[in-house]
Amino acid sequence: MNTLLVGAQWGDEGKGKIVDVLTEKHDVVFRSQGGNNAGHTVWIGPKKYVLHLVPSGILRPGCICLIGHGTVVDPLSLVEEIKGLHKQGIKTKGRLFISDRAHVVMPYHRVLDKGREAAAKGKKIGTTGRGIGPTYNDKASRVGVRIGDLLNKQKFTVSVKERVQEVNKLAKQNGWETVKAEQVLKDYLSAGKFLSGYITDTAVKVNELVAKRKKIMFEGAQGTLLDIDCGTYPYVTSSNTTSAGLCTGSGLAPNRVGKVVGALKAYTSRVGEGPFPTESQDIADMLHALGREFGATTGRARRCGWLDGVLIRYAAIINGIDEFAITNLDGLDTLKTLKIAVAYRLGNKTLTAPPAAIEDLYACKPVYKTFKGWQSDTTKIRSFRKLPRNAQIYLQAVEKIAGAKIKIVSVGPKREQTFSV
Ligand code: GDP
Ligand code: IMO
Ligand code: MG
Repeated sequence: MNTLLVGAQWGDEGKGKIVDVLTEKHDVVFRSQGGNNAGHTVWIGPKKYVLHLVPSGILRPGCICLIGHGTVVDPLSLVEEIKGLHKQGIKTKGRLFISDRAHVVMPYHRVLDKGREAAAKGKKIGTTGRGIGPTYNDKASRVGVRIGDLLNKQKFTVSVKERVQEVNKLAKQNGWETVKAEQVLKDYLSAGKFLSGYITDTAVKVNELVAKRKKIMFEGAQGTLLDIDCGTYPYVTSSNTTSAGLCTGSGLAPNRVGKVVGALKAYTSRVGEGPFPTESQDIADMLHALGREFGATTGRARRCGWLDGVLIRYAAIINGIDEFAITNLDGLDTLKTLKIAVAYRLGNKTLTAPPAAIEDLYACKPVYKTFKGWQSDTTKIRSFRKLPRNAQIYLQAVEKIAGAKIKIVSVGPKREQTFSV
């Protein structure tokens, strides 16, 4: 069966780890939205890998990996990522394919990203600074450059020169750094040469693989609440991070997807700005003291808080989540009491779904249900039956609140620290 994995919160739910675990039963892993704003951590034995655009399946020998037309690709960063994998003995030739239709992140997109953030002052989004928003912006404005264009020197040169001129004008007006078209052309055409053997029509490719009965695993990036339409707009990323978006970005039709799995942390984390109703400095301090919850891409300390049932129930509906994979249960091991938000109070109203207006979400006060902690180490447990009773009660409550079964539990970053329910 084909499986689609999405993040059910604000990203960093442990998608990389769960994809790695589930890849054992799949032949292909597909990244079909987002860019190198993502950071997916996978541990194999004592070795830690952080993948940004290359699908986590690359770490499983023989697995085919696709980067779809819904992604935005920074070719220089991708070349670096691929070379880094080669240095670690991981082969990519004949296994990794990049869509010729994916949009290219250019240096001027990063200039625009950083410039807008700096100018936004109190309203900054806290982006990763990777140029993601401006690249999707150019795509929607139909002035973007696509990966296939890297192989057409003349076309690429004309497009880049035109756009560099426009962006540099804006940059000069705002006091931002400008870019040199000649240098961009040199670097990008050289990256294009390196990537040429990987570029293909991944939409056709995935459908060929499906026809051959290969099993596809979709590796969602970011999370539901960062989705450009369903997320906490404007504090979101610029792609559709939800299950339907993964189909759009890949060219595999929705009726070819078998199952939707939602990756979920046992608590909540968020990097960057924006509302976070269940945020708790105490939980953040406790996790940071353990050396946990620092961003895999930017190294920023993640904001942390209680599990938010309103948001995960919403994620379950929007994505059509059939089952959850819950990670970082061990992060709650030391707590005496735990809380899950089951609704929000907004003025005199009770809400069971997040409101659209950001000022309303800022004003929402969570209504909590309290649970007894288990205060014991779960990292060596390998079955639901062996979990402390209070941990079982907590997980059962999550299922009830979110409206979908938990089928995978993760109690540590390693592959083996995982069990099925
Ligand atoms: P992703 O972006 O969703 O792939 O998640 P990240 O890799 O950015 O962040 C998840 C972090 O949690 C990484 O450091 C993982 O190694 C770690 N992790 C995943 N599952 C578990 C777990 O069950 N327990 C612990 N302690 N760490 C986990
Ligand atoms: P993975 O795939 C967590 C956040 C940024 C910022 C907002 C917009 O590892 O879960 P962008 O650079 O995309 O324009 O930033 O989105 N963000 C993520 N947060 N995990 C991610 O990816 C993220 N990718 C983007 O911090 O708040
Ligand atoms: Mg991450």
